[in-house]
Amino acid sequence: MFPYIRAVLQEMPVRPEPPTEGFLRHAGHDTASILPMGLNECLLPPSPRVTEAIRNSVDSINRYPDAQCPALSDIITARTGIPVPRIVWGNGSEELIQGAIALSVQQGDRVVLPVPTFWGYRAIVRASGALLVEVQNLEDGMPDVAGIIARSREGARIAFCVTPNNPSGAMLSEAALDDLVAGVPEECLFFIDEAYYEFGAHAGGPDVLAALSRRNGPWIVARTFSKAYAMAGMRIGYALCSSEAIAGALKATTCVFNVPILAQAAALAALEDTAYLKWVLDTIADGRRQLDAGLRSLGLSPLNSVGNFVSVRVPGSGQQVARRMLERGVQINAWADTGYGDFIRITVGTKPMNEACVKALGEVISAT
Ligand SMILES: Cc1ncc(COP(=O)(O)O)c(C=O)c1O
Repeated sequence: MFPYIRAVLQEMPVRPEPPTEGFLRHAGHDTASILPMGLNECLLPPSPRVTEAIRNSVDSINRYPDAQCPALSDIITARTGIPVPRIVWGNGSEELIQGAIALSVQQGDRVVLPVPTFWGYRAIVRASGALLVEVQNLEDGMPDVAGIIARSREGARIAFCVTPNNPSGAMLSEAALDDLVAGVPEECLFFIDEAYYEFGAHAGGPDVLAALSRRNGPWIVARTFSKAYAMAGMRIGYALCSSEAIAGALKATTCVFNVPILAQAAALAALEDTAYLKWVLDTIADGRRQLDAGLRSLGLSPLNSVGNFVSVRVPGSGQQVARRMLERGVQINAWADTGYGDFIRITVGTKPMNEACVKALGEVISAT
């Protein structure tokens, strides 16, 4: 044991490297011939206006970026009605999840998390030393609203809800959202992760901010440019907070210059190019329907997803199916949660990618 390292960090398993393009290439894979349908990245390119904005800002990287993205905040305020002092920018939304935990919990405090969900949560909660209280999602992938409320009433400091959720793709109904807003106690920080917000809105999802405006207790909503805006490599996200006090505390958990100058320029262009966003969302929705139909043609029953991914139970081990798919040049993801070893998640790609993926999966399944 090392006396200068916090015990919880020494007890944590070594963090696995996510199988990014660069990681796979470094490990000797020919990534040019692999379809990257495993990490829920946007498999359509970013808007040409985004790449142009990045090019135009490259010569400014000798300067520090703005600490809290004022131009971006103005646009978000205009679109959400949340005043600038209640907006916090992060190095991806993951930094804001980490910040919300850092601002609210001390060693041993309770954190409520509906699972399965984004793999990052477990590691962040564990590193904080908080006590993770997991609430299993229902069979159809929907969150167990009554369970979340009940567990959050057992003295939890923070309760999370991810909608649309990853990896199920399930989205909270308006009624479920209202129940959560009313049921999570006022002493508990209610954090709604809307990393897939744009997809949810495109699918006609409920207005999370409107529902939260009826809540007396504290809340945070986190969104990202990593998904619908096709900017995962830029690392930029933002949080909308119930009060200036929460926003101030969240800011205090982040580094001062946490969002790079190129990410800010890119995000500004992305927000302005609303026609491109609509094209991405329409195209991904078509691709999701294509994948869903393809999986059904293999005799599988995909979960009902509104995200840029589809999950499905496969015969046998998800890990093994993912390995065999990679051998055939298609990278997908196997769910990591105990009890879900036979689920895989496929990121929606272009039409030819989706077609190739279904074909490869059919071959893998018939060979098992
Ligand atoms: C539900 C959810 N939340 C947060 C994140 C983190 O995204 P980022 O840090 O890129 O904004 C992800 C990434 O996949 C996610 O699926």
